[in-house]
Amino acid sequence: MRSSVQAQLTWDYEPTGSRTGALYQRAKQMQWHVDDVDWRLPVRFGAPLPDDSAFAMTAFAASPLARRGRPAWDAFRWELQAWMVSQFLHGEQAAMVVASRLVEVMPDLESKFYATTQAVDEARHVEVFSRYLRCNIAYPYPVSEPLLLMLTDILADSRWDVVALGMQIMVEALAMAAFRLAGSTFHDDLIKQITTLVARDEARHVSFGVMSLSGLYDRMTAAERAEREDLVLESAALIRRRFLLSDIWDRLEVPLREGSDFAARNELMVAYRQAIFSRVGHALGQIGLMTPRVRAGLASLDLIRFTEGATHD
Ligand SMILES: [Fe+2]
Ligand SMILES: [Fe+2]
Repeated sequence: MRSSVQAQLTWDYEPTGSRTGALYQRAKQMQWHVDDVDWRLPVRFGAPLPDDSAFAMTAFAASPLARRGRPAWDAFRWELQAWMVSQFLHGEQAAMVVASRLVEVMPDLESKFYATTQAVDEARHVEVFSRYLRCNIAYPYPVSEPLLLMLTDILADSRWDVVALGMQIMVEALAMAAFRLAGSTFHDDLIKQITTLVARDEARHVSFGVMSLSGLYDRMTAAERAEREDLVLESAALIRRRFLLSDIWDRLEVPLREGSDFAARNELMVAYRQAIFSRVGHALGQIGLMTPRVRAGLASLDLIRFTEGATHD
């Protein structure tokens, strides 16, 4: 994808004592290695799984998989894991590219320092997820179309704050919430260990986004702010579409319409999307972008309940 950016140098090297500077110091201390992971932990992909929660079993009964019997639900749960980890990997690569973009375009030295450590973090994430997939998942998934569209939009934008909003808030916060739910979504201890380590880094990345963007929107014109709201709502629509899981229905040979309808309407599926979106909503509130228009848009996508974030105006 082609994009032109405004690369910035600064001649101001004076430490400012900013929170971003402190976050940079912490990032250097918190580095870990892919070899720290216990790669001997077994992954028995496709093995029968213990019973799901009652809520999930109700979802299964209502799903297009029900008529195939219980093993089909376990197959779905494993495929969901393979698909999620595959999308993590593709997202991590984009995050690495975006982090290095931020080094170029962010205005101040401490933000550039911080973004440099993030690029290293994201490289490690690419490494760790690709190794997991290579060693354990025979058929990983290609990048899903809505994710690709979202990443392309972010990378094509020349404005640093839009790049930061798209990646640090929309992509990173979503990923962090998905990692934190790994305990209940994923089925082997190896991926749980990996996501725990990665989530620690992502928490810093989201903090960096919140620090960089806080207060910015107050200084913008209504038209400029509306463009940022558009980006949030477009990304949110793509996130919702991604989690209609068409790639998985395709692989399981479930008619796309039936699978997507189930994913769109089933209570468990809606609750899962709301759970992984909750950290994004929170971050939008922190940076002052949970405006009435954004809140209404997110509620109509069923990504937040209408009252959520109401205190963040
Ligand atoms: Fe990452
Ligand atoms: Fe990240």
